[in-house]
Amino acid sequence: MRDKVWIIAGLLLFLGLVTYPAWHDLVAGTTAKPPQLVLPANQKQCVAPLSYMRTSHMKLLLQWRRSVVRDGQTKYVAFDGKVYNMKLSGTCLRCHSQQEFCTRCHNYVGVRTPYCWNCHLDPAQVKRSAR
Ligand code: HEC
Ligand code: HEC
Ligand code: HEC
Repeated sequence: MRDKVWIIAGLLLFLGLVTYPAWHDLVAGTTAKPPQLVLPANQKQCVAPLSYMRTSHMKLLLQWRRSVVRDGQTKYVAFDGKVYNMKLSGTCLRCHSQQEFCTRCHNYVGVRTPYCWNCHLDPAQVKRSAR
């Protein structure tokens, strides 16, 4: 009789554990939603085509850094002929929010990039702390 109680308790515990992923989302009211990226309101085009930026923005940033720091080049002529200053904070973060764009996606995909922000400033943070 005792054994039966334990067996049933064990079965219930097991069922609870294996179905955890299913009811966790129900109880917490969450699903695996993609990150809500805030895009610039008044700009339509990035410094390179979307598909390139999506997969290769980190390569572009490293190219920019090399051009500026090693080669003393500061201007980037984009695919559409527009000219940009090769700056992480001064150009990328002029259109994009570090918190609501870069970091939101990085958290979602599990990439950590805080070490850039050890030196490069987030203009939004600077404005906030100056207040
Ligand atoms: C230890 C401090 C430090 C860290 C960490 C750092 N940088 Fe820089 N970065 C600099 C300095 C200093 C310059 C030179 C600024 C200049 O000459 O105007 C620079 C220049 C750059 C430039 C070109 C100029 C500019 O103002 O943006 C880019 C792009 C850049 N870094 C990207 C990155 C990226 C991407 C990361 C993270 C993967 C990163 N950096 C991490 C210090 C740092
Ligand atoms: C002039 C404004 C502007 C600048 C400067 C800019 N971006 Fe963008 N960026 C955009 C816009 C607008 C989009 C969305 C483009 C689209 O939907 O076709 C975008 C898209 C992106 C995406 C893809 C987002 C997604 O949905 O997958 C990444 C990543 C990105 N930008 C990173 C950067 C980085 C890194 C820099 C600096 C090297 C930069 N951007 C500079 C306006 C800008
Ligand atoms: C739509 C998603 C998305 C957005 C938005 C995004 N990133 Fe990324 N980022 C990624 C992914 C995914 C990787 C990792 C790619 C890999 O490891 O090959 C990455 C990697 C990076 C790296 C290299 C990090 C490392 O440790 O190797 C840097 C630097 C970077 N992103 C900067 C930025 C900046 C700056 C912005 C905002 C202007 C931004 N990213 C916006 C998805 C995104």
